[in-house]
Amino acid sequence: MKEPQKVKAFLEAVRNAVSIPLTIKMRAGWDKSGVQAIKLSEIAQASGVDAIAIHPRTANQGFGGKADWSLIATIKQKVSIPVIGNGDIERPEDALKMLETTGCDAVMIGRAAIGNPWIFSQVLALVEGRKASIPDIAHRFDVMINYLRISIECFGEKRACRMMRSQLGWFVKGLHNNKRFRVSIKHLSAEGEALYLINEYRNFLHPLYTRERSFAGGIGP
Ligand SMILES: Cc1cc2nc3c(=O)[nH]c(=O)nc-3n(C[C@H](O)[C@H](O)[C@H](O)COP(=O)(O)O)c2cc1C
Repeated sequence: MKEPQKVKAFLEAVRNAVSIPLTIKMRAGWDKSGVQAIKLSEIAQASGVDAIAIHPRTANQGFGGKADWSLIATIKQKVSIPVIGNGDIERPEDALKMLETTGCDAVMIGRAAIGNPWIFSQVLALVEGRKASIPDIAHRFDVMINYLRISIECFGEKRACRMMRSQLGWFVKGLHNNKRFRVSIKHLSAEGEALYLINEYRNFLHPLYTRERSFAGGIGP
């Protein structure tokens, strides 16, 4: 980001090398000394890039502070190619807010999709004027088991179980007594063990879920 001429050279090289749509993603800049993303967006457009995704935090910022959505709006004014806004969409409503306040053409969702892959259909529902529904507990657990199985298929049991130690925890955000479940999966190493712990927690929640009708509606990432 500190060397716009280099960015120009490699964007042009990639553009000349491929005929598929070329999109890029960048942050606001390197650090708070400057916002290079505005100039780089113009360079990208001139180099034949088809769309730009912008996460308006500086590289040095990591994930600290807030994403500066006003920069998305500024870049949208500067270029005519589609601008994809990114950063801090935590709930489905935030996606609409970003579209409205920045004028961006699309939104990109990162962390909020971890453990809540339903967020995309929830956003779509809001865009189409429908209510965003929250998945019920049974479905949530079915997806966890499916995720475990697919991961084992892709990565093998050992590696998949290691991944699941953190991944499954995201799916139980907001659920009753989830800390105990999170601790129980910390040392997962086998599929059978994972299935046992998932089902044990599902069975623990089941009576609560059926007793309290509001439970399903009350859980949301
Ligand atoms: C686990 C994780 C992996 C990521 N990997 C990438 C990546 O490979 N490439 C990338 O451009 N951004 C990556 N990001 C950044 C996200 O795409 C996104 O820009 C950032 O999380 C801000 O959006 P959010 O607030 O919706 O999470 C990653 C983020 C997380 C949390």
